[in-house]
Amino acid sequence: MGIRGQGIWLQFYMAGHFKNWSECGMVGNSNGMCHITLNEEIMPRKKSHEKVEVETYDHKGAKRKNIPLVGLVSSVTDPIDHKKKYQHDPHIDPYLSWAGKKEGTEFEVQNVSLHIHERIDPQRIIKSFLKKDTGPKQVSLFEQPDNEPPLNKAIDFYKHEQDWTNRLIAGDSLLVMNSLLNKEGIAGKVQMIYMDPPYGIKYNSNFQPFVDKKDVKDRDEDIPAEPEMIQAFRDMWELDIHSYLTHLRDRLLLAKELLHESGSVFVQISDENVHHVRELLDEIFEPENFMSLITFRKKTRPLRASYLESMSDYIVWYARNKEKGVKFHKLFIDQIIEGDKSWKWVELPDGVRRIMSEEEINNHELLPKNSRIFQIVSMIAAGFTPSCVFEIEFKGNKYSPKNGSWVTNKEGINNLIKQNRIVNAGKTLGLILYHEDYPVTELNNLWARTVGPKDKIYVVQTNTTIVEKCLLMCTDPGDLVFDPTCGSGTTAFVAEQWGRRWITCDTSRVAITLAKQRLMTANFDYYELAHKAEGIRSGLKYRTVPHLTVKSIAQEGAEKEETLYDQPIIEKNKVRVTGPFTVEAVPSLRIKPFDGKEPKIEGNGRELSQTGETGNQTLYRDELKTTGIRTTGGKKIEFSMVEPMVDYRRNV
Ligand SMILES: C[S@@+](CC[C@H](N)C(=O)[O-])C[C@H]1O[C@@H](n2cnc3c(N)ncnc32)[C@H](O)[C@@H]1O
Repeated sequence: MGIRGQGIWLQFYMAGHFKNWSECGMVGNSNGMCHITLNEEIMPRKKSHEKVEVETYDHKGAKRKNIPLVGLVSSVTDPIDHKKKYQHDPHIDPYLSWAGKKEGTEFEVQNVSLHIHERIDPQRIIKSFLKKDTGPKQVSLFEQPDNEPPLNKAIDFYKHEQDWTNRLIAGDSLLVMNSLLNKEGIAGKVQMIYMDPPYGIKYNSNFQPFVDKKDVKDRDEDIPAEPEMIQAFRDMWELDIHSYLTHLRDRLLLAKELLHESGSVFVQISDENVHHVRELLDEIFEPENFMSLITFRKKTRPLRASYLESMSDYIVWYARNKEKGVKFHKLFIDQIIEGDKSWKWVELPDGVRRIMSEEEINNHELLPKNSRIFQIVSMIAAGFTPSCVFEIEFKGNKYSPKNGSWVTNKEGINNLIKQNRIVNAGKTLGLILYHEDYPVTELNNLWARTVGPKDKIYVVQTNTTIVEKCLLMCTDPGDLVFDPTCGSGTTAFVAEQWGRRWITCDTSRVAITLAKQRLMTANFDYYELAHKAEGIRSGLKYRTVPHLTVKSIAQEGAEKEETLYDQPIIEKNKVRVTGPFTVEAVPSLRIKPFDGKEPKIEGNGRELSQTGETGNQTLYRDELKTTGIRTTGGKKIEFSMVEPMVDYRRNV
């Protein structure tokens, strides 16, 4: 079946999930046209006869700089020969030292501009396919979106702004961040940065060489084939951990510049280098801005370690400026009380209160429906309040707060008695707290329930729930999130799901291809907007739960609620797909030869900026042949012949 103009879109579905068109819900006709019906696999929540609207959130009012379309650039409108100088603070105590650190207190980054290669708007395609009344309609994947500026404005790059679209950028993070800072004025506008750099342990364990090959081992055949990756790989590993730390330090410095004053940076790392990363972050963000060291479970089953098995990785979280206030929402997790002996009491539906059997404590299903599980807590306050010292008469007996004061005053105690919350607990009184008074508990820095990623497409993919927790804690809908280590696009995916704006980059085109495919084939629940007319920026509607404390129960009417920021209200008759995004690239990357001299960009840069090629294959091949690759331990790999790989051409 032929579908004109839709090749890539359909290919993504085919490559990602389906064996044939009908399986992905597309029906062809003899004219080579097709329409789409969203089947259970794409839209699993809906029965086929229900009408489903397909939507995206758009970020009304948010603007971005108009950056060049790849074919519209010349070296005059977009020169690439300037550099921006950055400086690290040399007077920091205590001082983590490594080879090259001292020499690297100043470094220059080439000012390059980012070029748009594709504008992707999957939602428009699905919408037009869904217009069944008017019959199937052909649209081009690259159809110009609504925010496409008129041509005369389109070449007025950087000077004017255009409506926001999210951004997937192929390029080294240092070049990309420098460009965002210096060409596009994004300094201070990013609310959260999630960075998951290679962990700095095995020389190539973080570089996936092919789209369809996830079992990367630390062996020569898995050395990345892309020129950009070879450069990134070499920058990071030329001097082992020393160059790794330089690589991270430079990038963290630029990341800091991008962050909003109330913003946060999260760096994911394993136990091998967590101490170094923490010290680097201390140096760049300052120790007072440390927020937390999060431990998350990375696997559910041990892998037979010789000694103590390592089940977790870490996220180091720093604020841009803690003193001035960090954007933060408390998250909650369900409080699990089954099996917990401190929750041993039950109130049956007929009002009878009794202690549970051991079996019942361990299995609440044995209790009658609508039973209320409760704890009996002390009525003596932790502190001392003279006005809360008095005698209570309860069921014919008199009680005093021995050597202390009650948790509330006389009026409060009367309220508690009225609500049947007080019980006789031996020689004193106890207060009943039901589980439903506060059914959740605050999320802390031990994320022990997380698991490895589901349906992994990338060798070092992060589970979405991990990025999600960080994002929900530190951003609101409409905020801008940046990930300089895109990989399979987990941060972009999570940001898209939760209505945040996003920018992400990766030096690997394998990663960019996977991320693009993942985003284009994604579908999400449609979360109800707080104020429809104001759009996503107004926020979402969330589920709330009671948070009753002894004090609030005693003072009737002073009930408190907690907002569950990870449980928005879902609009049942709508689903969402990824909103429009652009695929961009830095114009050129070059491989640094071992003599350390930067090769000069030849010519006037015109061809480069007009083609927008992310790599000059011949140049790379020649350079690779002459310079080889150095791996950890000073080993050098030399090449007698370098040719583009068939697999690589097919996959990227
Ligand atoms: C650990 S992975 C990130 C995985 C990601 N969290 C995910 O869920 O898929 C690190 C990524 O950083 C990328 N990377 C390495 N050096 C880079 C550089 N200098 N600039 C941009 N990306 C780089 C690698 O290509 C790799 O995709």
